[in-house]
Amino acid sequence: MGLLEVDSLRVDYRTRRGSIRAVDDVSFKLEKGELLGLVGESGSGKSTLGLSIIRLVPPPGVIEQGSIRIDGDDIIDFSAEKMQSIRGSQISFIFQDPMTSLSPVKKISEHFIEFIRTHEPKTTKAEALKRANTTLRDVGILPERIADYPHQFSGGMRQRIMIALAITLNPEIVIADEPTTALDVIVQAKILDLLTELRDRYGMAWILITHDLSVVLERCDKILVMYAGGIVEYADSKELFRNPRHPYTQRLLQGIPNIEFSDQKLKAIPGSPPNLLNPPNGCSFSPRCSEGEPRCKSEKPQLLEVIPNHFVRCFKEM
Ligand SMILES: Nc1ncnc2c1ncn2[C@@H]1O[C@H](COP(=O)(O)OP(=O)(O)OP(=O)(O)O)[C@@H](O)[C@H]1O
Ligand SMILES: [Mg+2]
Repeated sequence: MGLLEVDSLRVDYRTRRGSIRAVDDVSFKLEKGELLGLVGESGSGKSTLGLSIIRLVPPPGVIEQGSIRIDGDDIIDFSAEKMQSIRGSQISFIFQDPMTSLSPVKKISEHFIEFIRTHEPKTTKAEALKRANTTLRDVGILPERIADYPHQFSGGMRQRIMIALAITLNPEIVIADEPTTALDVIVQAKILDLLTELRDRYGMAWILITHDLSVVLERCDKILVMYAGGIVEYADSKELFRNPRHPYTQRLLQGIPNIEFSDQKLKAIPGSPPNLLNPPNGCSFSPRCSEGEPRCKSEKPQLLEVIPNHFVRCFKEM
């Protein structure tokens, strides 16, 4: 049994103009302590998938089908209270912009005390502060800064505070949605290295959401590539790097500078992702694919395990 098992998950936004299938038949497993990179272009459904796993998909989003098992329990059946109690303690979520989660009028210490005591009401303030200090040290923030307000920190430091809050109750799974996109490259790299360090020290599993494959390729154990709501490829990072099989993954890799077989001219993939209100028949990538066969336009390929632990959704692999 995996730590997290997502099976045949489907999430629609039921808009007035029709249903948008943001997550389309997604299945994958996450093991204890694993670092999973979730990659895809804007609008491919990464955030919706991440938010589904903590049951925070905003309306009009609805989980239409599938199961999400954490330690064997399907959280789709959990009550709102039960979900509230596992958020933060068993599974945490870090948003792209820390200021959406940090109150500007509260000191960092108050954020920690409130958060810890919501989950563990018996914890005294002193105990909560002690725990806060330990976790802040873990993420590289000096203990004396605990009395500061969020705006007194740089963007990178604020994201470190969010990471500290997310891990302070020792969750087994942390989902980070583009946590470094707004930061410059050096700060970004340091924060990503921090996630790896924390994983090595505490053994939590991470799902790292990003539109930038180069960011996760070196650091994550596994990579899941999404396109138009579905998984197109899912494999160990090294395997994905050496043997990308889906034409979309191949184009993404070609777009990364400084990779041997990269072609700088191919940075952007021609065409645009499909309109999810009116998706194409057949393979969703077929309108942009240069290697298609006639059936790609009419039939939908299945996600196939081509070699152990390497999954691809493409007819040329069948
Ligand atoms: N609240 C909403 N109402 C209607 N449609 C939505 C809503 N939120 C997202 N969508 C649609 O669902 C699809 C998936 O969106 P999602 O935000 O999950 O993608 P993403 O991969 O996280 O994109 P980005 O990289 O831009 O964050 C998109 O087509 C988007 O337009
Ligand atoms: Mg997103």
